[in-house]
Amino acid sequence: MTPVWLDADPGFDDWLTMLMLAAHPRLHWLGISVVAGNAPLDVTLANALRIRQHYGLRVPVHAGSALPLCGTLETAQRVLGAQGMRSTGAALPEVEAHADSPDAVAALRAALHASAEPVMLLAIGPLTNIARTLQAEPALAARIAELVLMGGSTERGNHTPAAEFNIYADPEAADIVFNAPGLKRRMFGLNLCRQVLLERRHVEQVQAWPGPRAAWLAGHLDAYQRIRSADGQVPMPLYDPVVAAWLWQPERFTFQSARVDVEVHGRFTRGMTVCDFRVSEARPANAEVAMGADGPAVVEQVLQAVQQALQRI
Ligand code: BDR
Ligand code: CA
Repeated sequence: MTPVWLDADPGFDDWLTMLMLAAHPRLHWLGISVVAGNAPLDVTLANALRIRQHYGLRVPVHAGSALPLCGTLETAQRVLGAQGMRSTGAALPEVEAHADSPDAVAALRAALHASAEPVMLLAIGPLTNIARTLQAEPALAARIAELVLMGGSTERGNHTPAAEFNIYADPEAADIVFNAPGLKRRMFGLNLCRQVLLERRHVEQVQAWPGPRAAWLAGHLDAYQRIRSADGQVPMPLYDPVVAAWLWQPERFTFQSARVDVEVHGRFTRGMTVCDFRVSEARPANAEVAMGADGPAVVEQVLQAVQQALQRI
């Protein structure tokens, strides 16, 4: 069993990722650290707790950073609504639940120390919690098998013309993470996610699944798939679940080593991941960057794993 930790800002695509981790047969899921991102922390935390309760996930949930390291909070509520995820059907019901601890950084540090083996660290939100963990204890990089993140891009952005949302929301944190000594990094950016396209027929597939849990999921999936066009005819990339899909089927992805730097100053380019593939001894790579995927097979993999999660409850 591979020990794994998830840092997330749920978010509908974070939700799919959580279900995929729960269904994976060879993972020991140690915990979730929640971060502000898609919505403010109280909302992303409430979403994590709703998902955990309604889908019977047995994993501790810890409240993390409410603000980026510098500057003001940036959310995706403009696109995703106040809850950070919309539904065209019945929304996932509210729950009365509390985080297992109010200090996700302390919880992550404790988990890294306690694990017998290095931990696979998955990050699918702004990198604030991860940066704070590494700042507090840089030697913990050796306890992380690999940091696998959804964020950045080798090409254009989504939140701004140059920047992807997770990096834009806390560029200083991303800068710390990409420069942390001794940390292995694997980046799934927009260039990859834009090959993994959710189409109308995928939504219809989920709409046919039985039971209330599938129905909540279908309502949110439908709204998510319509982000690019109200009639859903323009396919929508899947972001966070590609990280979990890689855990299931790594052979479906190709990678290239690169030196990734995060723009923290640019007037138009703040939060951009500048990916230099001309690596050399003088300028070594600091990340494996996902470049290619069998997109249709990855989408099928995501839906299959999510369906398995539903069947396990
Ligand atoms: C990323 O931003 C968030 O809105 C998604 O959950 C994903 O992590 C995509 O840019
Ligand atoms: Ca996310």
